[in-house]
Amino acid sequence: MNKRIGILGSGSVAQVLAAGFSKHGYEVRMGTRNAAKLADFLAQHGGKITVGSFAEAAAFGEILVLAVKGKAAKDVLALAGAQNLDGKVVIDPTNPIDDAPPENGVLKFFTSLNHSLMEELQSAFPSAKFVKAFSMIGGPHMVNPAFKETPTMFICGNDAAAKKEVNDILVKFGFAPEDMGAVTAARAIEPLCILWCIPGMTGGRWNHALRLIRT
Ligand SMILES: NC(=O)c1ccc[n+]([C@@H]2O[C@H](COP(=O)([O-])OP(=O)(O)OC[C@H]3O[C@@H](n4cnc5c(N)ncnc54)[C@H](OP(=O)(O)O)[C@@H]3O)[C@@H](O)[C@H]2O)c1
Repeated sequence: MNKRIGILGSGSVAQVLAAGFSKHGYEVRMGTRNAAKLADFLAQHGGKITVGSFAEAAAFGEILVLAVKGKAAKDVLALAGAQNLDGKVVIDPTNPIDDAPPENGVLKFFTSLNHSLMEELQSAFPSAKFVKAFSMIGGPHMVNPAFKETPTMFICGNDAAAKKEVNDILVKFGFAPEDMGAVTAARAIEPLCILWCIPGMTGGRWNHALRLIRT
């Protein structure tokens, strides 16, 4: 029996992942401050996906997905309510992208290499089980993408059982998950988004993925 999914967010990532979880047979509720903007999207999904406030989506989900602007992530989790996050897996695709424009196609972050966004969120909400995932690939490739080879999805987080649940979801979604360890590893995973975006920013090429190879 699939667990219920609460997706915090209404943007492109939230929509792609909501549709992906629904396609894979999960019940999905999305959370936003403005449900009206999802009317067309919900209509396309024939009532299978529902919408509510951030708190309603967080209360509904047994597993949560945080798909919001990096700068707003902590505020969104506060609106969702710490009690609705307690003990739950929170899949975290967010990236700490600054408002300043990219330089030569290189995005700017508001975090440092010695402190990631997910570490900040994990310490603000210690009873939630954050797992970084989906952060280093574009939205259109997040669900069963059509690459010749299986792309890697780097993940990290402090809770082994939470990472196992996310690992199994990623395999269903067409990825080869690679566990990089504790939440600290988000310092290395979040900047992979900068690397992934460069060919798009400089040459309009967004049709690639990252893959770890071994001897
Ligand atoms: N786009 C991609 O291909 C991609 C790929 C990998 C990772 N990511 C990361 O995934 C996350 C979501 O990206 P996205 O492009 O789908 O959407 P986005 O435009 O980065 O974020 C939209 C969401 O952020 C919320 N938000 C923005 N400002 C807010 C505020 N002041 N207070 C509360 N909520 C606020 C919005 O809430 P409302 O619903 O209430 O308006 C909306 O749900 C980002 O962190 C991004 O870096 C994106």
